[in-house]
Amino acid sequence: MFNVLSKKRLIMVSGKGGTGKTTTAAALSIKLAEDGFKTAVISLDPAHSLGDSFNLELSHDFRKISEVNGELFAMEFDPKLLFEKERSDLRKAMEADQEESPFGDMLPKEMMDILLDTNYMPVEFAEGIGFLRLLDYLIDSDFEKIVFDTAPTGHTLKLLELPDYLDSFVGKMIRFQLRVSSIFSSVKRLFGFGSDVDVAKETLRVLDELKERINHAKKVLTNNDLSEFIVVTLPLEMSIYESARLVGELDAYGIPNNFIVVNMFRFYHGDCNFCKNLSRMHMKHLDKISELFGDKSIRVVPFFSSEIRGVSALRKVIKYLSDFTLDNARKALEDKLTID
Ligand SMILES: Nc1ncnc2c1ncn2[C@@H]1O[C@H](COP(=O)(O)OP(=O)(O)O)[C@@H](O)[C@H]1O
Ligand SMILES: [Mg+2]
Repeated sequence: MFNVLSKKRLIMVSGKGGTGKTTTAAALSIKLAEDGFKTAVISLDPAHSLGDSFNLELSHDFRKISEVNGELFAMEFDPKLLFEKERSDLRKAMEADQEESPFGDMLPKEMMDILLDTNYMPVEFAEGIGFLRLLDYLIDSDFEKIVFDTAPTGHTLKLLELPDYLDSFVGKMIRFQLRVSSIFSSVKRLFGFGSDVDVAKETLRVLDELKERINHAKKVLTNNDLSEFIVVTLPLEMSIYESARLVGELDAYGIPNNFIVVNMFRFYHGDCNFCKNLSRMHMKHLDKISELFGDKSIRVVPFFSSEIRGVSALRKVIKYLSDFTLDNARKALEDKLTID
């Protein structure tokens, strides 16, 4: 896995909640940093647990992880903080324009609300704008590897739908209102009122710029030389099917996804019936996994008997992510190995 990842820059870890995304993202980032790459690991999941995984306090600012023999920086990203700033700047500009203008009341307040209130827009919109800013920043940064611990299935991909959203009915409505108010501004200026800055026109420009930025992000995320999405799944039927759907979505967007991590696989041979049955059930699902994801590189990570917290515990996972393939897992089962 790491020979492929060493050639990429953006690594997104995705999958259903509780499958081990955060653990996988943290482990990958440690390995990449220790291989000599300046690495950033960022949690995008609003229910952050990256700090818990490292057993450290993390925030919206990067923190260097000193236990790692390399340069690893971690943060829990709050997209709303960035969006809030953008929103308050825009609101101030619009309010200033209204105060100056005798036609101020005619600038529809609802339009401002639609544009600026998260209640009127999908939450992904606000988060998406925050994420785009972060992506711009990271792409220009000197981080050689950027690992994202993403929000559960599908959520991240919503971002890529934003251009469609802006072209959709709601987007068209916003544009229509902006154009109408843009005409008002022109009339105002014709009679010598109003400020120099045409806020409506400016906002339209911002929307177009946003679309461009998203399309750029799309290009980056679908670039096979730059990006990789890793899907984490559990050896359970429901999780496997959900992961297959996620893989389908990633393929539809053209996002490279060559690896499936099957996490919490129980390897057990001993007297405990429950443990044996669990191991057998997981083993049964290996066939389904190879049938559904036969064209991918699959890595199997054992279900450890202790919780994985902190850098040294996370190192245990790295070994399996590196080279523990489906064949290795089958061999371990044949050899009646117990992995605790
Ligand atoms: N292979 C594993 N063996 C034992 N515990 C694990 C394993 N992988 C993850 N865990 C634990 O399971 C919990 C959920 O993992 P986490 O990585 O936070 O999942 P996600 O980010 O997908 O919600 C955490 O407490 C984590 O320490
Ligand atoms: Mg998580």
